[in-house]
Amino acid sequence: MYQLIYCSIASPGLHPADIKAILNTSRNFNSANGITGCLIYYNDEFIQILEGKKLTVKKMYEKIEHDGRHFSVIMMSEEEADERIFSNWAMAYCGFNGEANGRRNFLFEQNLIALSELAEKPTQTIKLFFHLTKLMLEGELNDRAKKPN
Ligand SMILES: Cc1cc2nc3c(=O)[nH]c(=O)nc-3n(C[C@H](O)[C@H](O)[C@H](O)COP(=O)(O)O)c2cc1C
Repeated sequence: MYQLIYCSIASPGLHPADIKAILNTSRNFNSANGITGCLIYYNDEFIQILEGKKLTVKKMYEKIEHDGRHFSVIMMSEEEADERIFSNWAMAYCGFNGEANGRRNFLFEQNLIALSELAEKPTQTIKLFFHLTKLMLEGELNDRAKKPN
């Protein structure tokens, strides 16, 4: 079993329908190919963890890397692991885009907390995944890539 985490920035003009299409493709392909994982989308940034056989995950990442719907795709971690974190999820998803709005923000946060509780063992990989998510929420994940001086 292999786990890979990357982050990226959504291409300008990415629409909610594009996210839906990504999730549809992902859930179909992933469930047929033994890939599980989680995709977080927050104010034009993505973090994704992919889990599965090494070769399958690597091939998937190569495709994702060249997908025009995002850019600045940066691998943050890849490693062998004993167990899946998102074993029941062809691609769990948690997303939020737009102005801070009490109710939607609250739901997003609740979903993130629920996701973080899915991981029974606090492995280094899951810690990194949620550490990156925290940086993303604080606007410090892709700061330089998004706003070149
Ligand atoms: C942020 C992001 C995450 C993606 N995650 C997956 C995924 O988990 N599984 C998947 O099959 N495709 C995923 N895709 C879509 C792939 O990049 C690609 O479009 C898809 O595999 C179909 O490729 P093909 O038309 O060459 O077969 C993702 C795309 C983006 C932009």
